[in-house]
Amino acid sequence: MNRLELIRALPKAELHVHIEGTFEPELMFAIAQRNKIAIPYKSVEEVKQAYNFHNLQSFLDIYYAGAAVLIHEQDFYDLAWAYFEKCAEDRVVHTEMFFDPQTHTDRGVAFSTVINGLQKACDDAKAKLGISSHLIMCFLRHLSEEAAFATLEQALPYKDQIIAVGLDSSEVGHPPSKFERVFAKAREAGFLVVAHAGEEGPAAYVWEALDLLKVNRIDHGVRSEEDLALMQRLIAEKMPLTVCPLSNLKLCVVDDMQQHNIRRLLQQGVHVTVNSDDPSYFGGYMNDNFIAIAEALDLSNEELKQLAINSFEASFITDTEKEQWINQIRALV
Ligand code: ADE
Ligand code: ZN
Repeated sequence: MNRLELIRALPKAELHVHIEGTFEPELMFAIAQRNKIAIPYKSVEEVKQAYNFHNLQSFLDIYYAGAAVLIHEQDFYDLAWAYFEKCAEDRVVHTEMFFDPQTHTDRGVAFSTVINGLQKACDDAKAKLGISSHLIMCFLRHLSEEAAFATLEQALPYKDQIIAVGLDSSEVGHPPSKFERVFAKAREAGFLVVAHAGEEGPAAYVWEALDLLKVNRIDHGVRSEEDLALMQRLIAEKMPLTVCPLSNLKLCVVDDMQQHNIRRLLQQGVHVTVNSDDPSYFGGYMNDNFIAIAEALDLSNEELKQLAINSFEASFITDTEKEQWINQIRALV
């Protein structure tokens, strides 16, 4: 099997994807039209031309604007279903999707509308495509601690449908410490916890996510390499990093893909995984990310298999399920 065939054949788990970041311009236009919401673009081409980000904030401004056309349960269903179809194409057999309730509740959309639409798509993905999934609710870190507490309160009736809480949006200036108390309450309520750290923010934010938020995984974390003691800790604790190569390239976290550190991290024993982050905005879904790093960094088939194995090991599925997928990967020649 050549490298491309292996990438396509490998079962994979996606652990870092924002459902609002899978919003393709075609679907955005269709939903805007049926909801009678004006968007500042005349065509799909014009939308794509607007995607010339140079950092996280310039991306987030456009990402939040796009999400504003989502109003009804059916809109959230359609959004998630379109993503599940991409998963099926890429042999993503399990996904743990982030959603940002505050992006919607702050516009007057009910929490129940968001989660019911997403949950129905998750149920259908299992029934019709055989894809399993979990939902991870993210707090927007540019908003207040108080707003995060209120969001956690809204999530409690849906505790059984939300496996974990996370932390996303503008990183620099909004350290994990700002949300220490909210995360303590979330853990007490039984949620697992993850957080974006070390994407644009410094290695110090990764330390905070570990020590103060007590995360089960770090999202991104690529800047951890700047701190040797942190690297040693990540390796010793087998702490997963959900790395998003095309995102890092598009948001200028790295200058070109040959400079990406995912292979070095893997070789040093860090538990890295490959993910798409916001695939509609960053130029590709799971397999596009795999192909981009495989070519730029000349990854071997063994390394590609290890990345796929890591994705299941770092996921929140049961040990039995992990073992089944990992055995399937090992059996691939
Ligand atoms: N929200 C959506 N994508 C994000 C990213 N890459 N970093 C932080 N917040 C996000
Ligand atoms: Zn992200």
